[in-house]
Amino acid sequence: MGQNPPRLEMYQLIHADCFDWLRKCPPHSLQAVCTDPPYGVLEFSKPEVAKLRAGRGGVWRLPPTIGGSQRDPLPRFTVLTDAQRDDLRRFFHDWATLLRPALVPGAHVCIAGHPVLQPLVQIALSEAGFEIRTAIMRLYYSFRGGDRPKNAEKEFPDVCVTPKGAYEPWMLFRKPIEARTVAENLRRWKTGGLRRLSTDRPLPDSIPSGRTPDREEAISDHPCLKPQHFMRIIVRSLLPLGEGTVLDPFMGSGSTLAAAEAVGYPSIGVERDEHYYALAQRAIPQLATLYPRFRGEELELQADYRSGPELDKQQMDFALAEKYRKRKAKAV
Ligand SMILES: C[S@@+](CC[C@H](N)C(=O)[O-])C[C@H]1O[C@@H](n2cnc3c(N)ncnc32)[C@H](O)[C@@H]1O
Repeated sequence: MGQNPPRLEMYQLIHADCFDWLRKCPPHSLQAVCTDPPYGVLEFSKPEVAKLRAGRGGVWRLPPTIGGSQRDPLPRFTVLTDAQRDDLRRFFHDWATLLRPALVPGAHVCIAGHPVLQPLVQIALSEAGFEIRTAIMRLYYSFRGGDRPKNAEKEFPDVCVTPKGAYEPWMLFRKPIEARTVAENLRRWKTGGLRRLSTDRPLPDSIPSGRTPDREEAISDHPCLKPQHFMRIIVRSLLPLGEGTVLDPFMGSGSTLAAAEAVGYPSIGVERDEHYYALAQRAIPQLATLYPRFRGEELELQADYRSGPELDKQQMDFALAEKYRKRKAKAV
């Protein structure tokens, strides 16, 4: 009496290489993909992950501490050679070729990117038969760019080599629709468009975000954990009628699956690394239950926080953590 029925998870976790898994995936079984893939391709290889975990060397760069606060390791994409860039393009082409049959016509694929590598991924997916459908900018203060010329900082105090990064592109692709119109495709396959935030508000192509809040990083120490606020908005938008299954083939610790769970969508996550797979098993239920009122229908971080006496403390903590981060970033 008075007890809630046990909660049945809507997600499925698979410990495998996604290339192998996709080869066996039934055709037309998935309606959307949202993923944050490896980029140097080599940065999540066994030797590089060992170097990351040892905190020394390799493609992973440990940025200097700022104001006593430790910053997350970042992969050093500038070290990629021409041959590695070709590998990267081939990697995404092969991956997209395997993915395509598993998707229904009109399914959207959303891929986290890096401004420098974005064209390689777009060409690869286009050559594998996907349509390029713009990109959504996650707006946040990043540690990318803005530096003066190395070892000549004093000589060129007014020069920055690249602009200071304040966005992360999430590239959108679509498997071509099969019907004559989007409306017909929506009726037949439930895909082809994107879900609006609300009837009056379309999904915009830039979303104010922030760095992943500390409380989420306390749940998962994956170096590429993405924030629930942004992930819930994106994942929700990928199923235009709110029906279907979302795949994350490079799941990491599962921020996509946690977002899908919070929004109420079935999802599948594939992860190759044993450690990250086990981390996802622990992290997804915890991440999914944060900010219980936030289901990706609002852009504002403090959507619930404005709702008066029934103020949700968790949501408020989230908003305050973001404010604090922004103040800290401004001070740098
Ligand atoms: C950038 S991370 C994703 C992190 C995720 N955004 C999160 O919030 O935790 C990419 C993940 O893909 C995994 N991975 C790399 N190659 C893979 C493959 N072929 N199949 C499945 N997983 C792979 C890596 O181990 C890594 O955890």
